[in-house]
Amino acid sequence: MIVKLPVMAGHHLLKNRMVKAPIHSETCVGGKVTAETEKHYEDRTKGGRFGLVIVEHSYVRNDGMASPTQLSSSRDSDIDGLKRLAEIIHRNGSAAILQINHAGCGASRSFTGEATVSPSGVRVTCGWPTAAPQPDIPEVLTTDGILRLEEAYLHAAVRAMKAGFDGINLHSAHAYLLDQFFSPITNKRQDDYNGFTIEGRTRIHRELIRGIRQLIGTKPLFVLRLGGCDYVEGGSTIEDAVSACKLFEADGVDLLDISGGICCFVRPGHDYPGYFGDTSEAVKKAVQIPVMLTGGVKDVWDAERLLQEGKADLIGTGRAITAKADWGMELL
Ligand SMILES: Cc1cc2nc3c(=O)[nH]c(=O)nc-3n(C[C@H](O)[C@H](O)[C@H](O)COP(=O)(O)O)c2cc1C
Repeated sequence: MIVKLPVMAGHHLLKNRMVKAPIHSETCVGGKVTAETEKHYEDRTKGGRFGLVIVEHSYVRNDGMASPTQLSSSRDSDIDGLKRLAEIIHRNGSAAILQINHAGCGASRSFTGEATVSPSGVRVTCGWPTAAPQPDIPEVLTTDGILRLEEAYLHAAVRAMKAGFDGINLHSAHAYLLDQFFSPITNKRQDDYNGFTIEGRTRIHRELIRGIRQLIGTKPLFVLRLGGCDYVEGGSTIEDAVSACKLFEADGVDLLDISGGICCFVRPGHDYPGYFGDTSEAVKKAVQIPVMLTGGVKDVWDAERLLQEGKADLIGTGRAITAKADWGMELL
């Protein structure tokens, strides 16, 4: 089976092509890892079934918190808890990376106590079913504000490395901040970070990739999760995803993790395994680095079929693993 074959990603040999996709476990308190968080990861990574485990999104700054139970990477005091998660996953036998994120206008003053920010003040959310309060009208980021925000991402990436993770996953999907820069629906800026050229829409990503690389070096695994296509009129297209991914590859990303943009992690009317496969396949044809596809995979055979069809080099699974903690034991 292709899914059981090892694959190189940057300097890391991943033992198979099955990835535990990042899924917010809703177990953190005040951004800190709890005993429940540890148990969540212990149960779901037992046996080292996955070539790679991506730990759920962590907020890089308080005003970028997507929900009150979210994990934090925004303070040095978070490192101890993060270290415990990296240790659990490593002890079980998988590579582990931490996802870092800022929710942008997906945050809410009701739990951050701060104003929400976004590229252009356009309001949009991933449409969480979990009763996120009505989003605030976001403040437009100034250039200085963008540079300060980049600092927060850089510090969070360094904390992930101090916690012993093998690398990071930079979240630019599901209508969160970096996706808000990438999508022409949410990016109406006219400056260097503009929403009308690929260079403008990817400028913050590219500054982050280069900045983080400079700090953590070339060895750690750098994964970028891109909401490649919005699948709505006027939004990001598959062609945009291809152009952007070529730039990200040149800047030093090791692995491209393709998901949805403003449409979030689902694609209305398309619920078959690998429903973002048209985007991941187009990206895979255009780059040399490995590409990962997530969405709708129910079992290891779905993953195998998508790999055989050339849709991606690695396959992520989220909800099925949350629902069934021993999912994928047949990979061992
Ligand atoms: C409850 C829940 C929490 C999620 N948390 C995250 C997250 O922290 N980071 C992320 O990039 N995606 C997150 N996702 C999206 C998943 O990683 C994945 O892309 C999505 O569930 C589709 O894959 P699946 O059909 O295998 O579940 C979440 C999805 C759900 C349902």
